[in-house]
Amino acid sequence: ATNRTFTMIKPDAVANGHIGAILNDIIAGGFKIVAMKYIQLSTETAGAFYAVHKERPFYGELVNFMTSGPIVAAILEKDNAVEDFRTLIGATNPADAAEGTIRNKYAKSIDANAVHGSDSDENAQIEGAFFFSQFERF
Ligand code: CMP
Repeated sequence: ATNRTFTMIKPDAVANGHIGAILNDIIAGGFKIVAMKYIQLSTETAGAFYAVHKERPFYGELVNFMTSGPIVAAILEKDNAVEDFRTLIGATNPADAAEGTIRNKYAKSIDANAVHGSDSDENAQIEGAFFFSQFERF
């Protein structure tokens, strides 16, 4: 098992001015930032990143939304990183996200849900490697 997870601060949270507050919550939650970049995804890149969701009805909307503005992508380190980060961000649908979680505080809808968090150690590894080379991870 790895002690790293991958996250993105999504276009809604960036546009609404929440980058700083979300990074504060992440650091206060005990996570160390081991890689980070500020980028806008192309349709091709977002489509490839979300290829696992290709057959889902929300795929087109998801790719559209994720390319609508810049994002912050980061790799985070902490014991039990994947599970603890999912606890910190709350449920995918902000309507179901526990009080005080990042999605409860900053997300508006299931699409505009402020942040991404890897759902397994395996995906954390794949997603981190998708965005960062070995020279960009510290
Ligand atoms: P995330 O888990 O970061 O990556 C897939 C995204 O698809 C998810 O966040 C949601 O923002 C979005 N999404 C939209 N509709 C759904 C749905 N019905 N189930 C799961 N994810 C959805």
